[in-house]
Parts: sequence; structure tokens; C-alpha cells
Amino acid sequence: MQLEQVNHVCVPGTFDPVTLGHIDVIQRSCRLFDRVTVAVAASYGKNGTGPVFSLDERVAMVKEALAEVGAPASTQVVGFEGLLVDLCHEIGAGAVVKGLRATTDFEYELQQADLNHLMAPDIESVFVMGSRDFGYISSSIVRELASLGRDVSFLVPSSVEKRLISRFGRS
Ligand code: PNS
Repeated sequence: MQLEQVNHVCVPGTFDPVTLGHIDVIQRSCRLFDRVTVAVAASYGKNGTGPVFSLDERVAMVKEALAEVGAPASTQVVGFEGLLVDLCHEIGAGAVVKGLRATTDFEYELQQADLNHLMAPDIESVFVMGSRDFGYISSSIVRELASLGRDVSFLVPSSVEKRLISRFGRS
């Protein structure tokens, strides 16, 4: 099989909400590839266990955060339902980029990458090591602190902080 050079990649996630760690991975992807599409997964859970923010809100938060950090104009944001590899084929992305924080991320990411490769061998999985500054950040930690009304300004872009304060209030 003749494989094409990859210059368009997909950075997927649930982004509930997008954090400074995610932004770091997106910015690194922009350095490495000509075209980056941030793909916000619907991730609808069973029995109301899905994301706190709606898909539209999460897409809007990523767009606002990217505008705030001055991401290249070639960076697009899309929401999607269904399989990531199907989205990659639809938009012509040749690889998925994910960030790895610690060994704890590895098992899960390896499983996802293996599965994606079995379903779509033409889509590569690329991993970037996130900045050490953001190694401890996760959306769930952000949600937990924000729901307790605590300061999350060191974890998320200010546009996201504003939305968290209007959702959860501030103590
Ligand atoms: O930020 P997250 O929740 O770790 O992101 C996980 C995500 C959205 C990248 C992953 O769940 C995903 O790819 N979802 C789309 C459905 C899919 O393709 N799943 C993989 C095979 S079951």
C-alpha cells in the first residue's frame, strides 16, 4: 500500500472543558503539521454520565481558547459523533495526535491506538509529551475544583475560566 505524507492531523478529545494541557498539545501539533483539526467528541455517556458541557459549548470553548492563545488560522475545530477514524477519513486527516502526561496515560492510549489501527491502518497515531508544567492537569480535576467554587485560572485559558464561573459560581 502506497502511504501518503501526513500534513493534516486530528487532535481529538472530549474537552470537558479544554485545559492548558490540551492547548499545549494542540500548539505542539501546529508546530509539527501544516493543518490541525481539533475534534471534539460528543462522548455521550450512558444514563446521563456524559460530559458536563454540551458538544456546542465544548466546541465554542476550544475555539475561544485557541483565539486567546493566537493559534494559527489553519487550526479548525469540529464536533463529531461516531468513530474518530471515520472523521479522519471524512476530513482527510492522516494521523491522530494525542498528548501523553505520564505512564498512567499509556495503557489507555495504546489500546485506542491499536484499535484505531485495526479499523484504519492508513491513519497514524502520533504522541507528543506534554509540558511538565501541565502534567497534573486533567478536565476532571478542573471540573472538581470549579464545582467547589475554587480558582482554576492556572489550569485553563481565561475564556474557559469565565464559562466555569458562570456554570458553577465562585466561592
Ligand atoms: O479526552 P478523552 O475523553 O480522553 O478523548 C477520548 C476520545 C474522544 C479521543 C476517544 O474516546 C475517541 O476517539 N472517541 C470517539 C469514538 C472512537 O473512535 N473510539 C475509539 C474506538 S472504540
